[in-house]
Amino acid sequence: MNFSAHLTALRALAQDAPQIQALFQQNDRFAQFSADFDGILLDYSKTQLEAGARAQLLAWMADTGLAAARDAMFAGDRINQTESRAVLHVALRAGADAVITVDGKDVMPEVRATRARMAALARDVRSGAFGGAGGAFTDVVNIGIGGSDLGPVMAVAALAPYHDGPRVHFVSNVDGAHLADTLRGLDAGRTLVVVASKTFTTIETMTNAISARDWMAGQVSDPASQFVALSSATTKAADFGIPPARVFGFEDWVGGRYSVWGPIGLSLMLAIGPEAFDDFLAGAASMDAHFREAPLADNLPVLLAMTGLWHHQGMGHATRAVIPYDQRLARLPAYLQQLEMESNGKGVTMDGAPVSAAVAPIVWGEPGTNGQHAFFQLIHQGAQVVPVEFLIAAQGHEPHLTQHHRLLVANCLAQSQALMQGRSLDAARAMIAGRFAGAELERQARHRVFPGNRPSVTIAYDRLTPRRLGQIVAMYEHRTFVEGVVMGINSFDQWGVELGKELATALGPVMDGAQGLDGQDASTAGLVTFLRR
Ligand code: F6P
Repeated sequence: MNFSAHLTALRALAQDAPQIQALFQQNDRFAQFSADFDGILLDYSKTQLEAGARAQLLAWMADTGLAAARDAMFAGDRINQTESRAVLHVALRAGADAVITVDGKDVMPEVRATRARMAALARDVRSGAFGGAGGAFTDVVNIGIGGSDLGPVMAVAALAPYHDGPRVHFVSNVDGAHLADTLRGLDAGRTLVVVASKTFTTIETMTNAISARDWMAGQVSDPASQFVALSSATTKAADFGIPPARVFGFEDWVGGRYSVWGPIGLSLMLAIGPEAFDDFLAGAASMDAHFREAPLADNLPVLLAMTGLWHHQGMGHATRAVIPYDQRLARLPAYLQQLEMESNGKGVTMDGAPVSAAVAPIVWGEPGTNGQHAFFQLIHQGAQVVPVEFLIAAQGHEPHLTQHHRLLVANCLAQSQALMQGRSLDAARAMIAGRFAGAELERQARHRVFPGNRPSVTIAYDRLTPRRLGQIVAMYEHRTFVEGVVMGINSFDQWGVELGKELATALGPVMDGAQGLDGQDASTAGLVTFLRR
């Protein structure tokens, strides 16, 4: 079957999809529609997916050549066709004896050598052997944006219980407020600045790096000695004045949003230490092996992609909420926004033909339980259906606060239950019959109806350790890849970010007044005039 036949078949199945609760009349619904791997459970039983639709989706994946596409990625083929690049973030976390070749050359010796250099630097910073003008580094400021920020930001917050190094701060926005608020109160002589930019040309990052260097130069005689660079453009980093010994390079086959596993992860390594960072990598490598080896029907990234395709392509739900009931995963939704929307938010297929349907859903979310007191109203009663992905750990890291964790888990499970069960009009009437009567009872009851039959997926794990985090992030990476393969697009380029960058560069002189408003549309001209005034 070809793409459109599969899509048509899936939509036909979605039209007749059974109610979620009806599916639980089968005793083995949970057993049949959940899967686990090494401490992570994926429960997709509270969805309208039934055996027929699952078989159809798995057949679609097989027909689309998923296994071959996956193997091509791991083999170092240039699957990012518009940039003619291999896609090998998996090499950054591959084990000690791995051999991965690009154009016949084993890339692993270089990967290992860079990782060893990073670990040596991290040990020196953490021990104080390498410090600043004022002594051992107490603070690290990571300057980067997009993939050079979101991964480390998310992971550093996620692994707070494992921090035993310097405090790590992140500056991404070119808004001077971000840099100013971060540097305020820091001791320049004891601050290490990490400039993270794959290209070393990104205007936000370079502007922040120059201003950080100026800030340091006001207080330290040799600011460059307290700078580190993480980049594919090692020459540009050297031109910035950072000595080669503190430049950590990586190849163009590491996409920005897939780069936390290598040099871009240095801030995380500084916070948690090289050994815990290795556990993070080992977790991701174990998910890579699972993705490569497990049958499609038991394969967590594949199954997660299957739920995504079902909800977006089959059921037509435009968005997906990711709700970690894990405060330390507060930045996971933002991380996934880049991972999924920059990867799969595409308008043409691999061969340049327009896509026949929107490829990627809008991903959004906030941690629970906070979201319950904000946007969950819409998820429960709004007219649009939002499939939810919950994440929840069996255990927290606060043994003295187990009561908190009990409540956290109960709330997470209650939300998925409430979304599925809903509340009927009869139940609503019965609930308030003692307080209202007649037309007022009817009116009030209608406000208390929950439609139910709202899908959710729950990802449960034992504890948010470095290894588990590595597995979860790698699972999401591969899920994104699978959805991209099925939709026939290139998940590894990002041409859609270029136009805005070009226009911003052109508008700079207009804002300065060095260039007039000729050629600007009336709205932009009016805004420039207002903002300049
Ligand atoms: O704006 C898009 C983007 O190119 C992302 O893909 C990338 O992660 C980010 O900018 C930062 O780029 P760099 O690491 O080159 O500074």
